[in-house]
Amino acid sequence: MPHCFPLAALLLAASTTSALLAFPDCVHGPLANNTVCNPQAAPAARAAALVRAMALDEKLVNLVNTSPGAPRIGLPPYEWWSEALHGVAASPGVTFNATTSGDDGARPAFAYATSFAGPITLSAAFDDALVESVATVVSTEARAFSNAGHAGLDFWTPNINPYKDPRWGRGAETPGEDPFRIQGYVRSLLRGLEGPYVGGGQHNASAVPVKALKGPGSLGHGHGGNRTRSAIRKVIATCKHFAAYDLERWNGTVRYGFDAVVSLQDLSEYYLPAFQQCARDSHVGSIMCSYNAVNGTPACANTYLMTDILRNHWGWTADHQYVTSDCNAVLDFDHEHAPFSKDGAHAAAAAYRAGTDTVCEVPSYEGTDVRGAYNQSLIDEAVLDRALGRLYEGLVRAGYFDPPEASPYRSLGWHDVDMPAARRLAWQSAADGIVLKKNSNGLLPLSPLSMKKANTTTVALIGHWADATRMMLGGYSGTPPFYHNPAAAAAARHWSTVVFGRAAGAPVSDLPRGTPDRWTKPALAAARQADVILYFGGTDLSIAAEDRDRMRITLPDVQLNLINALSALGKPLVVVQLGDQTDDTPLLRNTNVSAIVWAGYPGQDGGNAVLDVLTGVHAPAGRLPVTQYPGTYVDAVPMTDMSLRPSPSNPGRTYRWFDHAVLPFGHGLHYTSFLARFGSNKNNKNNATTSFSTLQPNSTFAIADVVARCQTQGGSKAAVHHKDLCHFVDTPVSITNAGNVTSDFVALAFLAGEHGPAPFPRKTLVGYRRLRGIAPGKTHATSIFLTLGYLARTDAQGNRVLYPGTYTLLLDEPTQSTLKFVLTGDAVVLDAFPQPR
Ligand SMILES: *[C@@H]1O[C@H](CO)[C@@H](O)[C@H](O)[C@H]1NC(C)=O
Ligand SMILES: *[C@@H]1O[C@H](CO)[C@@H](O)[C@H](O)[C@H]1NC(C)=O
Ligand SMILES: *[C@@H]1O[C@H](CO)[C@@H](O)[C@H](O)[C@H]1NC(C)=O
Ligand SMILES: *[C@@H]1O[C@H](CO)[C@@H](O)[C@H](O)[C@H]1NC(C)=O
Ligand SMILES: *[C@@H]1O[C@H](CO)[C@@H](O)[C@H](O)[C@H]1NC(C)=O
Ligand SMILES: *[C@@H]1O[C@H](CO)[C@@H](O)[C@H](O)[C@H]1NC(C)=O
Ligand SMILES: *[C@@H]1O[C@H](CO)[C@@H](O)[C@H](O)[C@H]1NC(C)=O
Ligand SMILES: *[C@@H]1O[C@H](CO)[C@@H](O)[C@H](O)[C@H]1NC(C)=O
Ligand SMILES: *[C@@H]1O[C@H](CO)[C@@H](O)[C@H](O)[C@H]1NC(C)=O
Ligand SMILES: *[C@@H]1O[C@H](CO)[C@@H](O)[C@H](O)[C@H]1NC(C)=O
Ligand SMILES: *[C@@H]1O[C@H](CO)[C@@H](O)[C@H](O)[C@H]1NC(C)=O
Repeated sequence: MPHCFPLAALLLAASTTSALLAFPDCVHGPLANNTVCNPQAAPAARAAALVRAMALDEKLVNLVNTSPGAPRIGLPPYEWWSEALHGVAASPGVTFNATTSGDDGARPAFAYATSFAGPITLSAAFDDALVESVATVVSTEARAFSNAGHAGLDFWTPNINPYKDPRWGRGAETPGEDPFRIQGYVRSLLRGLEGPYVGGGQHNASAVPVKALKGPGSLGHGHGGNRTRSAIRKVIATCKHFAAYDLERWNGTVRYGFDAVVSLQDLSEYYLPAFQQCARDSHVGSIMCSYNAVNGTPACANTYLMTDILRNHWGWTADHQYVTSDCNAVLDFDHEHAPFSKDGAHAAAAAYRAGTDTVCEVPSYEGTDVRGAYNQSLIDEAVLDRALGRLYEGLVRAGYFDPPEASPYRSLGWHDVDMPAARRLAWQSAADGIVLKKNSNGLLPLSPLSMKKANTTTVALIGHWADATRMMLGGYSGTPPFYHNPAAAAAARHWSTVVFGRAAGAPVSDLPRGTPDRWTKPALAAARQADVILYFGGTDLSIAAEDRDRMRITLPDVQLNLINALSALGKPLVVVQLGDQTDDTPLLRNTNVSAIVWAGYPGQDGGNAVLDVLTGVHAPAGRLPVTQYPGTYVDAVPMTDMSLRPSPSNPGRTYRWFDHAVLPFGHGLHYTSFLARFGSNKNNKNNATTSFSTLQPNSTFAIADVVARCQTQGGSKAAVHHKDLCHFVDTPVSITNAGNVTSDFVALAFLAGEHGPAPFPRKTLVGYRRLRGIAPGKTHATSIFLTLGYLARTDAQGNRVLYPGTYTLLLDEPTQSTLKFVLTGDAVVLDAFPQPR
């Protein structure tokens, strides 16, 4: 069945029609005497008591996202489908108050929520503390919505499939193409969403600190982290889509029925590390299995992925951790993945038996045949009970069945939404992620003098995102408190402007041949009145989105032609790009295009963030979290080819394997110049790194010694649980601002070398850190924290192995400094990858 449902329309419809959700009545309701309502009982016992009280018929209907509950026993309906990609977002579980105006003309309560920059932009800031701050506000607002019945307690975020192919329509929902960067992003995001007390073990209000792995002020992000355990999860996050999902609809292949053929090497090395972070290291509450099949078996029926790897290998076995399917993914077993299941009953049975615990259904499609599966004895009651136990224990641990006063989160309300600090953070989430891609003749920052004379300097704002509204937000958005687009931000600054935006007819996509050009003349007329031209264009959700991959990755001709026409005027011209990367070659070559700035999906305050960067109020320091490919790349490898390494039919994917980037992963210019060096700076007062065992140039290490040290690095000097998390060494880094402008700097450390199985990647990211506010002439120090896992390569079976050889650390993009070291002795397997049976 082709489901060409326009998801946005579906979500919007749902957001205005759904009823409000309610917490169970544990005081006067029929559940009051059930153990599930006893906060002193263990969570597993509470969930089990609830499941025991449910009749078979009640069990059979509560294994899907829109759960009717069980009125007989006082279990209220619950909607498992709430979204929060970059702020509380429209979805069946989330309702924005549709009342037009509140008391005294004030805007209604719960009519909007903070809309941060999208993940691709936030990721470009390369600051995990910022990610955690953003996620903390998102979960606070989510709880406020939930307390008022406007949202559930679980949210289907984050989207962490690596953005491997530039054509992918949902790449901007992710933190980019690099597994190491995604891991750091996700680790911090989950702390912010699920709360400071992340853990899977005991239900215990007193926090129990688990081992700290990360050194202070270091570039690494020891994936184990400082975990603590406590009673109440702030919200349940859902890492999606498990796994190898990065194709929507391309050249006749559709995500619902696509079979991703993935080697064990690529699976282990590229497609799974983000999920390992979620499951093994961050103990996330929930995982979503994807539409596609992996090596012949649909992901939501895939026991190799969900049992052997997710649960057994990664130990994601706490009895409150559950898997939800993507929406209609199980229906697709017999519709799109035919002949995987012969009918709906067999499809449902295959999913629940493989470890899918709840199935998302798209309204108006045929429902999940749980009853048929049970009736035909394809699943037994134990399978139902296992799934229900996981689901309801998830809610128990989120405090759903507790009295409000027992939870630190139940007092959050409308007054906690859209706080001044949230607005400021929304601005920062965009401003810090903006990437300066070109600044050829130092046009930027626009001189403060000329802006002071704004009443005499006229600025032309041209292009479809000059006056954008929803398109600033990107996918999976809610209703923001405002849309501060560039035109609004310029008006608020009292600039003298002429605006030719989308409302006036600025083009986005190429139109059918013969469509009259109604935009070039008025755009040029506007530009002629101005001293400075700012073009705001690029892609948006009409070009790349869910269910919509790109066939071309160049800028649409209508936009490029317009920019060329504007550039022929010879006036200062800045191109500010929304959305995904396009091949910038023509803009980089055009000497009349003075500067190029990328803002991705900058959220509710994107216009202010961009103007602050253009005028130097905020110096740009973001780095591209993806490779920018040449336009010809789309002809060089089909989207359906899942392999990463170069071959005769594949030029290689991501910065690790592709040699001919237009702009590389990690690219980003500044308004000043920086010197980045390995080694500590003697004049530096910041001695943060001196307590570490630091890496000296040309050091040699015996692998046996290095691995032996893992025996004492765990908690209480016990062995480290996972050898890849074992600490290796730190190496100091110093960053000097050699220019004239105070600026942040993102230190990026890569590793290269010819060790392990050929071919060898160009380099691999192993550390990053954003250093803030480095004044001219000043040096800031940090260090790269290396674990054995960062040094490992992946063999053909997917094992993570530490190999002997010469390793070279590379600092910055392009490389400014290198540091070599040598490992000797026999290779050691750090993590043995489960093999398919
Ligand atoms: C709970 O049990 C108590 C004592 O047995 C009883 O008085 C009360 O009515 C029960 N409440 C409910 C809601 O069933
Ligand atoms: C919607 O907003 C109005 C006005 O602020 C408020 O009175 C009402 O309670 C809100 N409705 C819900 C369901 O939150
Ligand atoms: C909760 O944690 C505290 C501190 O670690 C411990 O003393 C106590 O026994 C724990 N309680 C339960 C019920 O596990
Ligand atoms: C772990 O985090 C807690 C709470 O943030 C903090 O109080 C504690 O000092 C940290 N422990 C270590 C060892 O870093
Ligand atoms: C698209 O599909 C057609 C037919 O299956 C095939 O011939 C063609 O090569 C494909 N295009 C690309 C770019 O792979
Ligand atoms: C199975 O379905 C049949 C026909 O609908 C029905 O009569 C029977 O009671 C069902 N059995 C179970 C165990 O639900
Ligand atoms: C521009 O002129 C107006 C009116 O005189 C004044 O209010 C405004 O402050 C001026 N703006 C700037 C940036 O000088
Ligand atoms: C650049 O601007 C100059 C005028 O300053 C113009 O003569 C020239 O044609 C322009 N070049 C392009 C590529 O538009
Ligand atoms: C920093 O390290 C240097 C050299 O190791 C030492 O002389 C100095 O006292 C240290 N400074 C501080 C503030 O610890
Ligand atoms: C490290 O070894 C290389 C040659 O392998 C040499 O050129 C370099 O000077 C050495 N560096 C140090 C600091 O010893
Ligand atoms: C810093 O500013 C001075 C004076 O304004 C100028 O001469 C110099 O070239 C600038 N240096 C850099 C690195 O931009």
